[in-house]
Amino acid sequence: MILKVVKYGDPVLEKEGQLVTEFDGKLNELVENMFETMLAEKGVGLAAPQIGQSLKLFVMDCSGGKEPKDRIAFINPIIQETKDTQVGDEGCLSFPDIYFQVERPRIVTVTAFDVNGKEFTMNLEDLAARCVLHETDHLYGKLFTDFLKKLSFLKRDKIKKKIDKKIKYGEWD
Ligand code: NI
Repeated sequence: MILKVVKYGDPVLEKEGQLVTEFDGKLNELVENMFETMLAEKGVGLAAPQIGQSLKLFVMDCSGGKEPKDRIAFINPIIQETKDTQVGDEGCLSFPDIYFQVERPRIVTVTAFDVNGKEFTMNLEDLAARCVLHETDHLYGKLFTDFLKKLSFLKRDKIKKKIDKKIKYGEWD
């Protein structure tokens, strides 16, 4: 089932999610629906608060549905270590058509649980590392627009105006 993606302005996006405690059929269904929604929206990552569920959980697939091994659910993830830096364009399904450069670590080690409650650790690089960091931020109510302050005034002002305009004209919905 494709779920509705919450857009910027909804308070759920700026709230810390709860830890997932029940690894049951309901969780499995939620995760499956999140994968389906992410694929339909052409995203590479989707966090639970983005579908209105204030939980520490996100799904990722940097292959866009092409590689089954890249289809990963991260439940209660914790970033253990980060290395290097990368700068690249970033977007978010909760901010349609908004993209700007964000500097983040290039390598990340993350520990999380799978849908069966089994703990795992992964080392990820480049786009996958960027995605894990962006989505983990969502679980703490942190949005990528926090990184706007690192841009020049002109760039920041242009993006802020574009966001304000979209909200004013109801283009988010
Ligand atoms: Ni996002």
